[in-house]
Amino acid sequence: MKTKITELFNIEHPIIQGGMHYVAFAELASAVSNAGGLGIITGLTQKTPSDLAKEIVRCRSMTNKPFGVNLTFLPTVNAPDYPGYIKVIIDEGIRIVETAGRNPQAYMQMLKDAEIKVIHKCTSIRHAIKAEQIGCDAVSVDGFECGGHPGEDDIPNMILLPRAAEELNIPFVASGGMADGRSLVAALSLGADGINMGTRFIATKEAPVHDNVKKAILSATELDTRLIMRPLKNTERVIKNAAVERLLEKEANLGKNISFEDIIEEVAGVYPKIMMEGTMDAGAWSCGMVAGLIHDIPSCEELVQRIMTEAESIIKKRLSGLLK
Ligand SMILES: Cc1cc2nc3c(=O)[nH]c(=O)nc-3n(C[C@H](O)[C@H](O)[C@H](O)COP(=O)(O)O)c2cc1C
Repeated sequence: MKTKITELFNIEHPIIQGGMHYVAFAELASAVSNAGGLGIITGLTQKTPSDLAKEIVRCRSMTNKPFGVNLTFLPTVNAPDYPGYIKVIIDEGIRIVETAGRNPQAYMQMLKDAEIKVIHKCTSIRHAIKAEQIGCDAVSVDGFECGGHPGEDDIPNMILLPRAAEELNIPFVASGGMADGRSLVAALSLGADGINMGTRFIATKEAPVHDNVKKAILSATELDTRLIMRPLKNTERVIKNAAVERLLEKEANLGKNISFEDIIEEVAGVYPKIMMEGTMDAGAWSCGMVAGLIHDIPSCEELVQRIMTEAESIIKKRLSGLLK
């Protein structure tokens, strides 16, 4: 399939694997890229810029296809060494960066001077328009369904994607709730040029996370995610577990007086325990409503092929058949 996104990133299929903290290591990113999609390493999971350099080298030893690096701009006082990470990205010859979180404007010049393609992930039309204005090459439009941070507007993809199509001139991919060929065809119909998936790619053979994480996704239904940190305006969609129940109880009890310190135990530094050790109740971890559509653990190659075959069959048989 040829779309503006496959052309922009020089990939075979319009399927991107979004950056994921403690999930998107070289093993997953290379597997997605080898399958003809676009794999992305999560920059900030690497503790220092030189660790990121090593991860890029590792990824390159596993694939000769294009892959990208995610840079998440966090709302934090002690910002990570972003210029250091970007220097490594440039020095290591990375050509695609997925930015997310805050506006990446401050770093756009550095990225553009190095001829890096930037796809910015955002959850609102106003931020997507801003991304286009500051020179991003594409946008990942992340609907309310998504795992991770859906923002504070709560607009699902059925509305958000056609709105993006109305407003944007640059290509965009649909992110949040994407799982299969049906999702891809729906996204294309709504004006997107591809899909970005997070949760679906965790339940793959190559995702280097503990089996308990994959099992939790398989057991979850579309009813099993919760929104945390709403009162802090840092909403995150996570899978329900004991730590999340405890956190939500604190939010209910403390109301507007809640601060980050009150929930630090449930959210800070929990990812290694969950993703690496499989201690599932160690804290809150991002997961999308799409868990309800995930029923197996294929390889990335099997998953990507299945999505493309299903999408082709829907377009050629089901949809064109309706016109007869
Ligand atoms: C476990 C997990 C960790 C994530 N970590 C990040 C991250 O560090 N940076 C980022 O930009 N997005 C992150 N995301 C969001 C994904 O890249 C993607 O946008 C999102 O999962 C799409 O929604 P879906 O899960 O419904 O496919 C994360 C998602 C998950 C499930």
